[in-house]
Order: sequence, then C-alpha cells, then structure tokens
Amino acid sequence: MLNLLPGLSDLLGSQSVSVPISKLKGRHLLSVRELDVEAVTSLLLEAEVQKRLVLEGAGGCDRLKHRVLASVFYEPSTRTSCSFQAAMQRLGGTVVCVNPDNSSVQKGETLDDTIQTMGCYCDAIVLRHPVKGSAAQAAAVSTKPVINAGDGVGEHPTQALLDLFTIQTELGGIVGRDASSPLLTVTLLGDLRNGRTVHSLAKLLALYPQVRLIFISPPALAMPQETVDELRSINADQDIVTDLSLGEAIGQSDVVYVTRIQKERFASAAEYDAVAGSYCVDASLMRQAKERMIVMHPLPRNAEIHSEVDTDPRAAYFRQMQNGMFIRMAILCQVLE
Ligand code: NCD
Repeated sequence: MLNLLPGLSDLLGSQSVSVPISKLKGRHLLSVRELDVEAVTSLLLEAEVQKRLVLEGAGGCDRLKHRVLASVFYEPSTRTSCSFQAAMQRLGGTVVCVNPDNSSVQKGETLDDTIQTMGCYCDAIVLRHPVKGSAAQAAAVSTKPVINAGDGVGEHPTQALLDLFTIQTELGGIVGRDASSPLLTVTLLGDLRNGRTVHSLAKLLALYPQVRLIFISPPALAMPQETVDELRSINADQDIVTDLSLGEAIGQSDVVYVTRIQKERFASAAEYDAVAGSYCVDASLMRQAKERMIVMHPLPRNAEIHSEVDTDPRAAYFRQMQNGMFIRMAILCQVLE
C-alpha cells in the first residue's frame, strides 16, 4: 500500500477551506509553464470548494453573475467545451459560443480578428485551435484573458490541472509534496508525440519532487526531444524511464495515463495504420497492476483501453472527466473574479 498524503477531502475535513490568493486574476492561461506549485495548490483547493458546492451544496452560485465567457473551438470537443460551459453556468455566468463552421471564419476572418471581436462582448475567451502557438498568438491581440483549451500538438493546461486534481483526489500526495514524500510513479502511454495533454501533464508533474515518469509509446510516437529537454530544465533530478515493457511499467505505476493515437495529426492514412492498435490496456494487463493505483485517460477513447477495464475500481477516467468541471469552475473564478 502506498503511504501518500491524504486526498483533499481528508486534508480539508469538514472545515471551511481558505484558498490562497489567486495569481491568475485577469491573466492568460496559455501553458502550464505559467504556473508554479503555489498557483496549482490554490487551484486544487478552489476546485475542491467547487466540487463540494456542486455535489453537496446548492449546485452552483452567483460568483460570476453577469460575466460572459466566449467559447471558441476550431477543433472538435465534447468534454472541454461542455465542462467550461457547465462551469460558467454553475457560477451564475453565461457563455457565448463561436462555431467556426458558420461564423465569419467562413468569410475568411483571421483568428486575430475573431479574438478581438469576442473581446468586445465577453470577459474571457476559451480557445481551441489546431495550430500550436495559436493561443499565444490570440493572447497577443486580446484585450481579455485567453484560456488555452488545446493548441494543436502544443499544450492543454486546463486538462493537466484536472489530471492533477484527479491524482490528488484519488491517491493524495500532490498538495504538500516534498522531498520526503513517497515516490509517485506515473506512466504516460500512447501518442506522446502528438498528445498535447501529456505534454502539459509531464511539465506540471516536473514541478514536484519524487515523481518518476515512465514514457511508453510506439517508437514513431515518442515524447518530443524538445519536451524532454524542457522537463530536464524544470527538474534536472526527475527520473525519466523509456525502456520498460508495458507490463513492467503497469506493475510499477501509481498512475497509468493512457492516450489515444491522434489520428487527425497524421500526414497519411498509411502512417496512422502503421501504429493503430499497437497497445491496449485490458483486464489481463490490469492483473499486473498494483492494488492501489489508477488508470486515467483524457478521453475520447478509441481501442487503447478495453471496455472490460471500465468496471475495475482503479479505472478513474470517468471520475477524471467529472473533475474537469470542478477545475474549470476554479480557473474561471480565479481568472474572472
Ligand atoms: C484531449 C485533447 O483534445 O487533446 N481531449 C480532451 O480535451 N479531453 C485528448 C484527445 O483528443 O485525445
């Protein structure tokens, strides 16, 4: 059994929670690089407050009454877009959505102009776009905070925050982690080249001591060297392991974070076919896993986690997606209040 720090609910008990002052007020959230441990802790505590409000309290409040969020998604999304919308509505605010398929984007309007437009009507802008760096580009012209909801193969900072909130609520040991904490072994499995969620999560985990990262991918989909170099620059002591089999990795992990092969990022169908179906977490692999560990996935899933794993109590991916709304409520409160 792991002896990690207790989960947030245990940590906070039934006491009223005092959330440290936010550093995010009025600021863009483009990359996890903008966050430090203090800012992450503040968001995790705030998310716990929001979770209690939704699950045990009134279901919502008026903290963001009369505030308007722009939701601008140039790529498909279910969880990220809907959880941001639900989060804003639970806080008493409203959402204006731009659908690039039937907006002035179809008349040739640039991203910069669409962003400046939404800045006239809204108090913050959530943006998903296929081009890496597009969130930073939008922020450069925006009069309102831009929240990156995924910029191509770049980053997905709000997903990484909900992932960390999930690890904290399931296993504990993120808030208060220090050099004397038990080792936390996290395996990132799948399309590490194109998956923006793992880029952000690995960088966020690199802020913490005593975290061991295992990377497992088809060779063509390995973690980009640029990201590995960045991880080294954040935390030179971090143990990064790349030579284990999937079974070995699962046996050693506290968290197995599975990702989909990002089909839409491949240049050709042949390139995708060469790696499709190359890994799958199933019940037989789970028999090699520790009793206390969790399997995570940002979703949507294809065939990389067999549905027979869904009923395993260690399968945390559906709980993880619910956490998305709580962390986005926390982010919106801290950016907009
Ligand atoms: C992820 C994304 O869009 O990067 N989805 C999500 O936001 N939950 C993962 C994916 O699409 O595979």
